[in-house]
Amino acid sequence: MNIKNICCIGAGYVGGPTMAVIAQKCPHIKVTVVDINEARIAAWNAADLSKLPVFEPGLDKIVEEARGRNLFFSTEVDKAIDEADMIFISVNTPTKTYGKGKGMAADLKYIELCARQIARVAKQDKIIVEKSTLPVRTASAIKSILDQTGNHVQFQILSNPEFLAEGTAVADLLHPDRVLIGGDMSPEGEKAIQALVAIYAHWVPKENILTTNVWSSELSKLTANAFLAQRVSSINAMSELCEKTGADIDEVAKAIGMDSRIGPKFLKASVGFGGSCFKKDILNLVYIAKSYGLNAVADYWEQVILMNEHQKQRFSDNIVSTLYNTVSGKKIAFLGWAFKKDTNDTRESAAIKVADNLLSEQAEITVFDPKVVAERIYADLEYLNTRSIAENQKLLKVSNNPYEACENAHAIAVLTEWDEFKTYDWNRIYDRMQKPAFIFDGRGILDKISLETIGFVYYKIGTGD
Ligand SMILES: NC(=O)c1ccc[n+]([C@@H]2O[C@H](COP(=O)([O-])OP(=O)(O)OC[C@H]3O[C@@H](n4cnc5c(N)ncnc54)[C@H](O)[C@@H]3O)[C@@H](O)[C@H]2O)c1
Repeated sequence: MNIKNICCIGAGYVGGPTMAVIAQKCPHIKVTVVDINEARIAAWNAADLSKLPVFEPGLDKIVEEARGRNLFFSTEVDKAIDEADMIFISVNTPTKTYGKGKGMAADLKYIELCARQIARVAKQDKIIVEKSTLPVRTASAIKSILDQTGNHVQFQILSNPEFLAEGTAVADLLHPDRVLIGGDMSPEGEKAIQALVAIYAHWVPKENILTTNVWSSELSKLTANAFLAQRVSSINAMSELCEKTGADIDEVAKAIGMDSRIGPKFLKASVGFGGSCFKKDILNLVYIAKSYGLNAVADYWEQVILMNEHQKQRFSDNIVSTLYNTVSGKKIAFLGWAFKKDTNDTRESAAIKVADNLLSEQAEITVFDPKVVAERIYADLEYLNTRSIAENQKLLKVSNNPYEACENAHAIAVLTEWDEFKTYDWNRIYDRMQKPAFIFDGRGILDKISLETIGFVYYKIGTGD
């Protein structure tokens, strides 16, 4: 089967970059990314490439090359579905906030809406690709909706989970460790799998394209995120022990990371993991395990989340206790709000919870982040619903200058590992702070010795006195 026309539903952090790379690598395929969010589509079409809704290093160049040639962003969802041979579903799958499974299960309403829309519009056979992260066995629900509400055309459902990491999305898409494609084991299923393999084969070596049954593919994505988050929680658990014992977490991480059975990646202790995926996907895994009565399995994975919550809490508790047990009326400067460097995504960022805790102690916070806008920061706090919008705006300010953000502060908290923070004129910052001038480095990126030489009182996750 030769695919000429692709539609992707959902122009978010996954749909946008993934389709941009497919369009760049397959100029003979027309790729249309659709979304119901008009502002987002307008931003993808912005002439000024610095206004793209997703910030990823290198993405602007790829969009510039392919957009208008064979890459299109549109709000005309029906039209794009109708024209496509292959449809990627890349919509959001947040944790349910209501009903059965509230706070744990994945909310599949956006997926179901897509399936119903495809069923209504499709007049020719199509391959549907689950790009969103979905609970195991979702493909059968999609198939049932398509077959029972459609126009009697044939659908093949593939699972093709995305393993990119925000901040390195373009590099991850161009050189993936592997591409995973799950499908039906029938001859038609095999044909559909091969059609998608052929697309990736334009730039991914064949041996890195794995094909499996659809359930293995769906479950592998949840498993990958659970294992990655578990490494962060494991090293963070050891960071607390390091602070008590005088061991240094970076030295421990280096020593264990050189063990080839463990490996060096994802061993950086921090204030806690964030991002839209780890928490929701693990909660979803926990929910699935519980629904099969596998309570020991569920408890095991839930602990990864509990450890992460603990890490954020103890970071803010430490700020309060170090600042003589009160931060009321004290200015605390936050360097960073994004959940990690090189992205403007703030979903589940540790900064949100740390800020919320400190605001509850009546601290006055000023935030500087190189890529996150003020509206996003206030929206993140409003979502928690801890205090009124007016109170959030009174207690928390956003600055677009790091030196201004730190001026007169009692303490600085580093919440994101942006490289530029290392290059600041820390003497200048110190001179204009309250004394003693504290730094709480939640990412372990600054140089302890030079900061202490300047006069700062420096605390780093995972290092004791
Ligand atoms: N963000 C990541 O790093 C990442 C990595 C791998 C996998 N994933 C998974 O990919 C999926 C998408 O994640 P994301 O971060 O891109 O989400 P996102 O919220 O950035 O984007 C989803 C988009 O889908 C749109 N949408 C929702 N329903 C729609 C509909 N019916 N029709 C048209 N558009 C619709 C929304 O308006 C939104 O713009 C999730 O399942 C996520 O778990 C995310």
